[in-house]
Amino acid sequence: MSSLQKTFFIETFGCQMNFHDSEKVVGTLISQGYRQVQTVDEADLIFYNTCSIRDKAEQKVFHRLADFKRLQQQGKQFAVIGCVAQQEGEKIFERAPHVSLVAGSASYRNLPQMLVQIGQGQRATGLDDRQTDQTFETEFTARTNPHRGYITIIEGCDKFCAYCVVPYTRGKERSRTSESVLAEAHRMADAGYTDIQLLGQNVNSYSDPLGKASFAELLASVGEVPGIRRVRFTTSHPRHFSRDIVDAIDSVPTLCEHVHLPVQSGSNRVLDAMYREYTRELYLERISWMKAARNKTFSITTDVIVGFPGETEAEFEETLTLLDEVGYDGVFSFKYSPRPNTPALEYADAISDEEKTRRLAVLNEKQREIQRARYAKHLGDIMEVMVEGYNRPRGQVIGRTSQNKTLNFSVPPGHAEPAIGAYVNARVTVTFPNSLAGEMVV
Ligand code: 5AD
Ligand code: SF4
Repeated sequence: MSSLQKTFFIETFGCQMNFHDSEKVVGTLISQGYRQVQTVDEADLIFYNTCSIRDKAEQKVFHRLADFKRLQQQGKQFAVIGCVAQQEGEKIFERAPHVSLVAGSASYRNLPQMLVQIGQGQRATGLDDRQTDQTFETEFTARTNPHRGYITIIEGCDKFCAYCVVPYTRGKERSRTSESVLAEAHRMADAGYTDIQLLGQNVNSYSDPLGKASFAELLASVGEVPGIRRVRFTTSHPRHFSRDIVDAIDSVPTLCEHVHLPVQSGSNRVLDAMYREYTRELYLERISWMKAARNKTFSITTDVIVGFPGETEAEFEETLTLLDEVGYDGVFSFKYSPRPNTPALEYADAISDEEKTRRLAVLNEKQREIQRARYAKHLGDIMEVMVEGYNRPRGQVIGRTSQNKTLNFSVPPGHAEPAIGAYVNARVTVTFPNSLAGEMVV
């Protein structure tokens, strides 16, 4: 039978949610008798898990679809899933008639049936499930990293920020039960995982269908699972980022001292136009909670959009002063990109691409200097790192700190190199704006 076994190849773009969705899709395919291969050439079925958060991500999908065409003669089948699939829907069949399956993430529960359909030579679509209450859970998740694993706690998003396509592509918010999240955390710990990341488009909206645990309580419980050494979560929304989350992180040793809290803009006028439901002052209050923590030193990172429609120079400068006020350890900055279906698409006063590019460069330059100074403060620190890999040309081990910083270190002569997944201490001897370097403490 094995020569008849169908093979698949999957390529993933976008955020961690998408990567983790792919791990679940892979597990589902394997449980349906498919075998994963590492090249398009070897595959009978080619999956493309797509992202449409910004224009560039989406263009990549259409280029790849055009590339697929030449493979059609070889009898291969194509599946487009994820955010572009949901956004473009059946239009994908028009643009790329060689595609057999189009499905958004809210429909992945139905993949086994969709596979049967395409196996019979029919087209399959999964586009109508965005109002579902059900989450995509599978016991077959094929995790790619044996030490660090993701657990989805909430899918979808109900916030409808004026610029964002996610509520339209990922559907409405639906939380998994705390029981099922904890059971998965226990299974992972039993399988040797030590590092868990809880995922959701907006984890602070987590609402346990069993009514047993708040997000902060769930976070603490995952941190208390025996064997788990590090727990992170992403992404938070400032409006619902409550004090009990800071208290949980501060009091449970395994909860990492890093919070990603996307601000998007430092201007109240722009935040209002973005429908962000908070002000600069409310955001800074959340930051002050973290800075006042007793036991831990929080590292804070954020996302910023420059050139939102109507953003004046003075409003942009308010974002720059916010960077100073908060003191971020990392900023993901993006040029505003108009997205289908979103309210901001209709906004007047678009900012030219040239001006967006300039603002992005100014912001990144400023943040680089902030980070240079912040990272420099680690000189001489001894930090626990989890080993992620090796940089052979440099003779260094690649480690990650609880604050989510990269710390590359050398191992003193005569000492064994730590294995991937091990936790060791390293002393910082050199600092850069984006990473640290040092030596292992023996
Ligand atoms: N244009 C630019 N950036 C965007 N983001 C989301 N939508 C857009 C858009 N239309 C950014 C936000 C978000 C991150 C994941 O992507 O900063 O936090
Ligand atoms: Fe991209 Fe957002 Fe979809 Fe993730 S959820 S893949 S970031 S559009």
